[in-house]
Amino acid sequence: MQHAIDLAEKGRGYVEPNPMVGCLIIRNGSIIGAGFHEQFGRSHAEVNALDHCSESPIGATAVITLEPCCHQGKTPPCTDALIQAGISKVIIGHPDPFPKVNGSGIEQLKGAGIEVQMGPLQSAIARQNSGFFKRVTQKIPWCIAKWAMTLDGNIATQTGDSQWISNPACRKIVHQLRGQMDAVIVGSGTACTDDPSLSARPAGARRATRIVFDSKGTLDVQSKLCQSARDIPVLVVVDPRQANQNRLAELKKNGVNIFECEAGYVDRVPMVLNQLGELDMTNVLLEGGGRLLGEFFEANSIDEAHVFIAPTLIGSGQEPIQTQTPGAAADQIAKGKHLKDVVIQQVDGNVHVRGFV
Ligand SMILES: NC(=O)c1ccc[n+]([C@@H]2O[C@H](COP(=O)([O-])OP(=O)(O)OC[C@H]3O[C@@H](n4cnc5c(N)ncnc54)[C@H](OP(=O)(O)O)[C@@H]3O)[C@@H](O)[C@H]2O)c1
Repeated sequence: MQHAIDLAEKGRGYVEPNPMVGCLIIRNGSIIGAGFHEQFGRSHAEVNALDHCSESPIGATAVITLEPCCHQGKTPPCTDALIQAGISKVIIGHPDPFPKVNGSGIEQLKGAGIEVQMGPLQSAIARQNSGFFKRVTQKIPWCIAKWAMTLDGNIATQTGDSQWISNPACRKIVHQLRGQMDAVIVGSGTACTDDPSLSARPAGARRATRIVFDSKGTLDVQSKLCQSARDIPVLVVVDPRQANQNRLAELKKNGVNIFECEAGYVDRVPMVLNQLGELDMTNVLLEGGGRLLGEFFEANSIDEAHVFIAPTLIGSGQEPIQTQTPGAAADQIAKGKHLKDVVIQQVDGNVHVRGFV
């Protein structure tokens, strides 16, 4: 199953909004075929594994990370492919929560006389497909918060300077992450102070829409975001009660999309995430600044964190998560959000901490 999970991982960034899936066809303890879901809209892992079989799969066992689909989607049902191939046993890593599957794939296989067994590593498969599972069950994307901070816990100096806190190797990891995302999100403070382009360099599997939370629509038309909006989409979330319509027209003229949202800061977060879910977005990267990270934190909308820590001291500066509502911040350490499945890695003298909220 771990081998199948590793295969599935190769699809990250290419298959969304579909799940990553890996499949092995096994006979007498030897792998006779292997495949994974490589690209959205193309054949699924099971069909690829069957196609790659070095001998007839009749009577063999299929090990699949996710329950096979049993409905006609962009491709025919994988249950049919397994049945027609003469597979006699299927070991499934995790049920597929997608409503059109959700247990029916297992039932169809059993109905065709195939032995079905639930396999190990279920939680690893759930982690691997956390974006897909969240989109399918909650209809909103998985939100990864990322920031770089100094050893004394600041994401910028008091003057707003933050380039660069983390080293080039860490920034390379961030670019790789961006290349797997459907959207990269920042607040207007960051867009104004840093003039970021928020693109993945080099380009990755996906091209993330750049999103700016900017009530008044203040994004500079000369900014890198605005100037590249015709090549890589830019969406500005504005409050129509605060934004100047002439300014919005100017942004639109430059290819910027506008999402009007009349809600308070914290309430705006789930509203925007719902909208991104409607667009079938699976994973989004929230890149700050501290104010916007604070609002996402208050809205309980951060699922995963990637934090890059540099051994630098700057004295007073800006905290990574600035909560605005009195009482939103934990008043006791025990009430803080303790990350799970934390991975800590040294990257050229910086530290990369990654975990699930
Ligand atoms: N080290 C790092 O990883 C890192 C990353 C990013 C940024 N930074 C630094 O952080 C600083 C900027 O951070 P910041 O806290 O000042 O600004 P920010 O979080 O980037 O933007 C905050 C602004 O976004 C707008 N906004 C719109 N909707 C919002 C919502 N729902 N919640 C929160 N804000 C919303 C608000 O302006 P309106 O009221 O006008 O809408 C708010 O003032 C810069 O110095 C930058 O260099 C560091």
